[in-house]
Amino acid sequence: MKKNRLLAAFLASAMMLSLAACSGGGGGDTAGDQTADGTKDASDIVVGFAQVGAESEWRTANTENIKQAAENAGITLQFSDAQQKQENQIKAIRSFIASDVDVISVCPIVGTGWDTVLQEAKDAGIPVVLVDRGVTADPSLYVTHIKADAVKEGEKAFNWIDEYMQAQGKTPRGGGDQFQIAILEGTVGSSVAADRLNGFSTAMSGSPNAAQYNIIASQTGEYTRAKGKEVMESFLKSDGDKIDILFACNDDMALGAIQAIEAAGIKPGDDIVIVSIDAAKGAFNAMIEGKMNCAVEHTPNLGDILVETAIKIANGEQVPALIEVEEDIFPADIAEQELPNRTY
Ligand code: AHR
Repeated sequence: MKKNRLLAAFLASAMMLSLAACSGGGGGDTAGDQTADGTKDASDIVVGFAQVGAESEWRTANTENIKQAAENAGITLQFSDAQQKQENQIKAIRSFIASDVDVISVCPIVGTGWDTVLQEAKDAGIPVVLVDRGVTADPSLYVTHIKADAVKEGEKAFNWIDEYMQAQGKTPRGGGDQFQIAILEGTVGSSVAADRLNGFSTAMSGSPNAAQYNIIASQTGEYTRAKGKEVMESFLKSDGDKIDILFACNDDMALGAIQAIEAAGIKPGDDIVIVSIDAAKGAFNAMIEGKMNCAVEHTPNLGDILVETAIKIANGEQVPALIEVEEDIFPADIAEQELPNRTY
């Protein structure tokens, strides 16, 4: 029954009407739940969302944004917090399948290991929407991916640093002719972590000033403040007098690192130029205090797009295979003026 109904979901809506009329059960999409024009009422649409956890300011904002968007649209959201464990996300997806939701959405903690469960969703006729992070699985196992271009984010971070170092006439703290860069990476195995690093190193090797930069240390800070601080402490122990630049792959790690830098008697934002990704309010406050130099935007406000897309899919409309959001970059000199406009 469900399979027939979901097949129909990708055909024209007129055809869908007659198919839906002979389907019943799960997801609440019986013929009686349809509006006069044959589309499903939002109140009859159930979306299951498997979230990563609550590791960062960004993630908390993303969760709130998705819940709020679901409430505003009047759809039912089944929300699951995986607490950073892929096995919990897989369990959540299986429970969404068992409760026969209309659409499953997931922000995959890591990129690999999804083929089996996504195939199960497909076999059950339930469309899947990826949000934010991606997977290495066959793209036929999901309908669309709503995301930002994390490669571009890494490129923007390096390009900004390059321009800034040249414009400020900075010289390497430890002497020599190279600026030493420390990197706090994101969750190992997550698509955004890999993309940001790739973007950063590609931009660095493509710069006419490439020879002036050296990555002296690079390690995961797991996208958390505590781990960012801990890893920065260890970077400072070995290279505290040499590090010129910190590229933190999210704001929380940058904020943790700032604590470690200050504790070591070094001036964040001045002795060490700091750029991070997300551009949440915490980073803006650090920039206003002169402790951080630039934040590259990674928006958590994907809720409205997710809900709109899920409603379209549940109504058999075609959606693009990739839905990409545009993002900005905020250097410290505009932080104060921009802070009132930040939503997260
Ligand atoms: O996947 C998005 C990343 O995950 C955000 O940049 C980071 O803050 C979060 O934890």
